[in-house]
Amino acid sequence: MPQEARITIEASRPIARVQPALYSQFIEPLGKCVYEGIWVADRPEIPQENGMRTFALDALRRIGPAAVRWPGGCFADQHHWRDGIGDPGERPVRLNLWWGGTEPHAFGTHEYFEFCERIGAFPYVCGNVGSGSVAEMRDWLEYCNVEGPTTLTDERRENGHPGPLGARFWGVGNENYGCGGHMSPSDYAAEYRKFATQLRRVDPDVKLVAAGYTPEYNLKLLESLITEREQSRDLIDHVAIHRFFRTGGHDVEFSEEDYYSCVAESLLLDDDIAKADGLFKNYDGSGDRIGLVIDEWATWHSNAIRDAGLFQRNTMRDAVIAAGCLNTFTNWSDRVVLTSTAQAINVLLHVIAVDGRFAWLTPNFYVFEMIRNHVGNDALPADVECPDLAGGDGSSGGLPQLSVSASADPERRSGVVCVANSHISEPIDCRVTFAGLPARSAAASLLSTSAPNAFNEASGPDRVTPASTSVDVDDGELRAELPPHSVALFDVELN
Ligand code: AHR
Repeated sequence: MPQEARITIEASRPIARVQPALYSQFIEPLGKCVYEGIWVADRPEIPQENGMRTFALDALRRIGPAAVRWPGGCFADQHHWRDGIGDPGERPVRLNLWWGGTEPHAFGTHEYFEFCERIGAFPYVCGNVGSGSVAEMRDWLEYCNVEGPTTLTDERRENGHPGPLGARFWGVGNENYGCGGHMSPSDYAAEYRKFATQLRRVDPDVKLVAAGYTPEYNLKLLESLITEREQSRDLIDHVAIHRFFRTGGHDVEFSEEDYYSCVAESLLLDDDIAKADGLFKNYDGSGDRIGLVIDEWATWHSNAIRDAGLFQRNTMRDAVIAAGCLNTFTNWSDRVVLTSTAQAINVLLHVIAVDGRFAWLTPNFYVFEMIRNHVGNDALPADVECPDLAGGDGSSGGLPQLSVSASADPERRSGVVCVANSHISEPIDCRVTFAGLPARSAAASLLSTSAPNAFNEASGPDRVTPASTSVDVDDGELRAELPPHSVALFDVELN
């Protein structure tokens, strides 16, 4: 008999409305993410729309990320935006300092904005603090967001875009504690203040994102930035953090111990968010909270190295972990304003994989397709009673076997529940109730494979795909058995 779990959803205690930006994507000229993944203008044999791979556009339209972050990542702090505008034949070719090879700038500002427009996403631009100047970033923002007329907006017009391009989020550097300049929190705070002061004057509506790091770094950053200069509170909207799960061993040939180690590491995200929440509370104004942005998060397996363009095959294990993270973001939707995985195509925890003219969807893609059912609903707290996972050595790891997120539409006529069973080999019998709201009927979609290391590839693109599965509704309660290492999405009609 499978173990049992009981999930009780508190329909009367909404956390926050689920914003689509919670499930966004990130692209960088790294490996095949941008060139070959999206930009295939020089590959006529690959179906494309104005130089962009049709498969990638169609797939991203399906999961509808609200935002796409670009151009980095570490690349952002070496990128000079003027290199990527104007006649493509005249654009400079420079070294890609972080990821090797060269950067032709064929996919520059206008190509990126057109890409966002084609998939219905808003642009989240990451500016260059590490090797750029305040004036350079200020000019880029004016070029992108100001109606004009100014000399810069006239130039934009001449480059084919009369109206503003509309970047709603603007990152002030990336990982400036590391590849973005190895700055201490107080060094970065001093830089941030100079950049943000001018960016705010150019476009008061753009959301400015400071590049944070660990809880200790963020504490010092906010102390230097705000406590020491109170008037600087207006300069900051959001703080970004990154989290990679690096203890999972090889992408496909992993042991049970590797599997649980990676799952356990991914649960640290909840703690990261709780700590950021505790810190930001000290600086929240009424109706003006500092939002947490998690603009890079991913599994990072041992064979995803620079020479491989950070490519790793994404298995069912990655999908289970991704579902756990997306559930966590949903459960913190009162603090987390945007998250984007690293990265959309081929890199680390990607949703699309390409190899020349071949392209396919990863298991992770289907998790994104499931989770977006929460968008527009009120996220709801779920009380989960389930067994703990046993660690790879057989000892109890104290890790809950299930990860859950739940939501309901504002009128409470329908609900959505996403459940991931992280157990590598055991199924679990789940009973789900919306407290005070009996379920009338439910449909479920299930992503499940016999082996946890199953993955899709060019020669087997549909090995891991979701299927609809039966759910019993008995006396207002849902009942379903979840196979090992699986993800399920329940769409529930409520009374
Ligand atoms: O997402 C891959 C790389 O990881 C990014 O360029 C960098 O910001 C991070 O460390």
